[in-house]
Amino acid sequence: MRRVMVLNGPNLNLLGTREPEVYGRTTLAEIEGELVRLGEELGVQVSFVQSNHEGELVDAIHRAADDADGIVINPGAYTHYSYAIRDALLAVDVPAVEVHLSNIHAREDFRATSVTAPACVGVIAGFGPRSYALGLRAVLDAMEEAAS
Ligand code: DQA
Repeated sequence: MRRVMVLNGPNLNLLGTREPEVYGRTTLAEIEGELVRLGEELGVQVSFVQSNHEGELVDAIHRAADDADGIVINPGAYTHYSYAIRDALLAVDVPAVEVHLSNIHAREDFRATSVTAPACVGVIAGFGPRSYALGLRAVLDAMEEAAS
């Protein structure tokens, strides 16, 4: 069975109560539950990592080289400055799709830059929790393309 690792960076464990006017009221557990359901429908096994620590996210990306065929990642604020996460994504031969709940291009200037996006197949931003479901479908598409 195909395997996708879904990674979430800092502060995303607080979804549901964190700035609900920006990120909505859906919790990370609810998002993960929906991805498990969608994964069953699409025939993909989905695993989850959330960490507030850059090195733990780097370690998880390294593990994905053995444990996953695709990555969906919301690096949170690390999106905007973590060269370590960018390099980790480049170091593993696993297609990744970057997702954001909010439209990072419609917010503060610093959010419009993603240093991690160039290491990804593409970016989905601005669709709230649905960004993750779209990201899962997108990475499956990329995995199929890579295999063909
Ligand atoms: C975010 C956008 C980032 O700018 C922010 O730091 C987050 C969440 C999003 O999903 O919209 O933590 O990645």
